[in-house]
Parts: sequence; C-alpha cells; structure tokens
Amino acid sequence: MTEELSLEKPKVPLTVPRGKRMGTVHMPGEADSVRAPGFRFVDLFAGIGGIRLGLENAGGSCVYSVELDPHARRTYEANFGPCDAADVRDVRPEDLPDYDVLAAGFPCQPFSIAGVTKKRSLGRAHGFADVTSGNLFFEIARLAEATRPPILFLENVKNLRTHDHGNTFRVILAELDRLGYEVAHSVIDARHWVPQHRERTFIVGFRRSVFGGRRFEFPQLPSGTPPVLRSVLDPWYDSKYVLSRHLWEYLQEYARKHKAAGNGFGYGLVTGNDVARTLSARYHKDGSEILIDTGSLVPRRLTPVECARLMGFPNPRMLSTAMRPDGTERPLKSFVIPVSDTQAYRQFGNSVVVPVVEHLGRSIAEQFSSAVDLAAAS
Ligand SMILES: C[S@@+](CC[C@H](N)C(=O)[O-])C[C@H]1O[C@@H](n2cnc3c(N)ncnc32)[C@H](O)[C@@H]1O
Repeated sequence: MTEELSLEKPKVPLTVPRGKRMGTVHMPGEADSVRAPGFRFVDLFAGIGGIRLGLENAGGSCVYSVELDPHARRTYEANFGPCDAADVRDVRPEDLPDYDVLAAGFPCQPFSIAGVTKKRSLGRAHGFADVTSGNLFFEIARLAEATRPPILFLENVKNLRTHDHGNTFRVILAELDRLGYEVAHSVIDARHWVPQHRERTFIVGFRRSVFGGRRFEFPQLPSGTPPVLRSVLDPWYDSKYVLSRHLWEYLQEYARKHKAAGNGFGYGLVTGNDVARTLSARYHKDGSEILIDTGSLVPRRLTPVECARLMGFPNPRMLSTAMRPDGTERPLKSFVIPVSDTQAYRQFGNSVVVPVVEHLGRSIAEQFSSAVDLAAAS
C-alpha cells in the first residue's frame, strides 16, 4: 500500500484564472488570467506537512506555510524546505501570495475530549474561551476575511462537532457563513485507506461568489478491501521497541482495574491481521493504544517509520538511512524523519492521513475546475 503513494507532483490539471492581486476572487476573463495548471494553497498549522503532501498529490502547489513548533518545523523543512512563518498570529494578509485554497488542520487540543478533560481538571476554560489556542480558529477567519480565498479546507478531531454541546461547531459554521462560504462537513475514517481507525472532521468552505452558492460534495469512499496492519509492519525492528516486562505488567494491571470498574479501554493489542486504534500524539509515552503482538511474551510498539506508514506517508525513512553521507537523498523518494523517536511519535500522532487528504483534494480540484468552467461559459 505504501508503494502506491508518491511524492511526485501530478495530476489534476486545472486552468485556474489568476487574480489580479493577492486576495482577489479568481474569476475567469480577467486580463491577466493565466496561471500554471493546478491550484495554489497556503498550509497553516502545517505540522510535518501531511495536508501539504495530500494536496500536492491532488495537483496543488503550496505557496506559503506556517508552523510554530520547532521540532515539527525540522521535519517539515527536511522534506519541503523552509516554512515562511512560525506563528499564524504574526502572519499579515499581505504576506500571503495569491492563492486558491486556505488549508489548516488547526490545533485540536481545546476541542478534543482529552484536551477538554485535561483543561477542566486544571480549572481552565476550553473551546473558544481558551485564549491560548482555542482562538486560533479566528486567525484562520482573520486571514480568510482579508484574502478571500475561493476555498477553505479545514481538518480537526471528530468531536469538534459535539464539543461544548455543539456550541463550538455552531460558532465556526456561523463565522464561515458570515465570511461568505457555503460549508460542507463530514467525519471520515481513514480506515478505508490505511489500517487505522482515525475519524476526523473535514470542513470544506466554497466561497459563494465563486461557486454560485454551491456546496462541496464529499466524494464516495474508496471501495475494495481496506488494508490490515501487516502492510505497514517491518519484519525486523530494534529491540528498544519491545516493551519492558515492567511496563507490560503495569499496562495489564491498569487495564484489569479499569475493566473491573467498568471504564476505560486499556491497551490495544493487535496482530498483522488487525486494524489499529487511532495513533495519538501521546503514543511515545507507553505505546499502549497500539501494541503489536509478536508471539512472544511481551509485545512491542510501532517504530516511527511504521507510524509514518500508518499515516500514509510515502516510503518513510529515518534521516540516517534516507541520506547519503554527503547529505544528498538516496534515489528512492522518501519522507525523511530527522527527529528523535519521541518527537516523531508526537508529530505523526498529530498529523493527518495523507491519502484521505489526497482523496478530498482531488474532489476539491475537480469541483473548483467545474465552477471556473461554468463561470467562463456563462
Ligand atoms: C493538529 S497539528 C496539524 C498537523 C498537520 N496537519 C500535519 O499534517 O502534520 C496543529 C499544528 O499547529 C501548530 N501550531 C499551534 N499553534 C500555532 C500557531 N500559533 N501558529 C502556527 N502553528 C501553530 C502546532 O505546532 C501543530 O503542529
């Protein structure tokens, strides 16, 4: 399955008219309306570039990227080159070049169950009341309002829709509506592409003035037999990925206690024939949500390279094996992991499943192309 993924630029050629200046709505017939095929996107909250890879595979080209965390930026920059800015809050609308799609997998902690629980226990507010990161959605809104891109492509955790009794999501939808977007949203499980259950909310906004009030139609899910874990597992692995006996006993005891109390999921023990639970950013702690049964007494966790495959990243390699001694990349196009295991686990747990984004990106490109054609014909 991983062999099918590619870092190459393809694929869906579009003739997208060029706006006269940054922030104009791209309508056909403008004097200087020639643009290279493909759509242009900005990658906000870029992480390690999962959304970027997916949209590039769908024919897009990234024209601006922003990521705050220096470790994530290291991975992003090893694979794509320098980010343009670190903090979205510092980005001015005039910094953004002409573009079509504002893409953002904005931080999910204030909206996720784990995030809410943790913040509640710390006596802090959550959702939009959380001024540290909840308000980052309004940074997206600020830039969208000023630059008026034809399309918004946003990603977040599944429970964004139910957080705070649905109020958070209502605020988001109302704000996007106010900004002039028809919004479609759907929860999609990456399980159709990779051997992992990972449900995420995808929101696509189509600017009314460009799409004539049409809404994005989510594409059909792929048919066919979805893959199982065997497709991402390596036959060999370093013994450091095998759990210590002490940790394994602790996890079993913890699961027993919680089961007796009628709560908690405990650990997730799987074989090559199974599908993994959602890889989380805390996987580095004990790996308990996805433990591989090796047939011996103690299971192992996934390696960072296997996590990358589980997220649909193409041909992942640790930096040491991806580069020649002179620093040039080996012939095989690969997604390079230049950070420690701990950082890598965090980064893949925070990322998106690349082929899911590619699937949606292709549909976005097609529907954008049709809208432009339709407007040209009228
Ligand atoms: C859910 S992750 C997005 C991951 C990304 N979609 C990927 O494929 O890797 C959110 C990212 O937003 C970044 N972030 C948080 N606050 C930020 C800010 N103020 N400006 C820019 N990036 C920020 C975090 O460091 C994190 O990498």
